[in-house]
Amino acid sequence: MINKTVAFVQEKLKNAESGHDWWHIQRVWNNTKLILETEPADSLVCELTALLHDIADSKFHDGDESIGPRIAGDFLQSIGLDSERIRHVQQIILNMSFKASLGEVMFHSKELEIVQDADRLDAIGAIGIARAFQYGGYKNREIYNPEIPPEENLSKEAYKQTTAPTLNHFYEKLLRLKDKMNTEAGKQIALGRHAYMEGFLQQFYGEWKGQR
Ligand code: ADP
Ligand code: NI
Repeated sequence: MINKTVAFVQEKLKNAESGHDWWHIQRVWNNTKLILETEPADSLVCELTALLHDIADSKFHDGDESIGPRIAGDFLQSIGLDSERIRHVQQIILNMSFKASLGEVMFHSKELEIVQDADRLDAIGAIGIARAFQYGGYKNREIYNPEIPPEENLSKEAYKQTTAPTLNHFYEKLLRLKDKMNTEAGKQIALGRHAYMEGFLQQFYGEWKGQR
């Protein structure tokens, strides 16, 4: 089932933008397996969800948050996964995004905790920095504007609509992820990646002011 899912996702994401391409999926899958080493859970559900979680991003489907779970569910049914696990995978996909966590949280499970941590780890550290500027470039955002201060407590709607410079995204999301990690393993890995981003920001502001 895992092999079939890998093939399905690779095909589906052939032309995906680079923030959510196959390599993002592979990194989240690897992070998931790393966390599973110390966190007991249904590893099949975790791995399948890691593979399918970005199959259709609502951002690129007029905000439709049901399309990803629907495509994942149809596929899992076609390869014969039991319906209880299918529903579980769908629930996790619907509820694991950072956006969803800003709204009313409707569903919770150990497996959600693990895959959510695995996805969040890919949004911080060196890769998180690269992805943020890649996204900002795609959206034609400024990298930084000292006249536009970040808003640290954006609502779900405001978060979706913001057109602020990319540096603001560090305060609106990336630097907040360390304290949102669910699992012990996730927290430990997040600490190192968080410190790396703080170093980056310090260096960035120094260079902005024309320091050595
Ligand atoms: P995820 O795949 O983790 O659920 P998103 O779809 O929200 O996350 O974002 C994909 C990537 O783009 C992440 O690395 C995220 O930090 C980055 N990103 C999302 N929104 C912005 C933004 N407004 N500015 C810069 N980067 C962003
Ligand atoms: Ni993701």
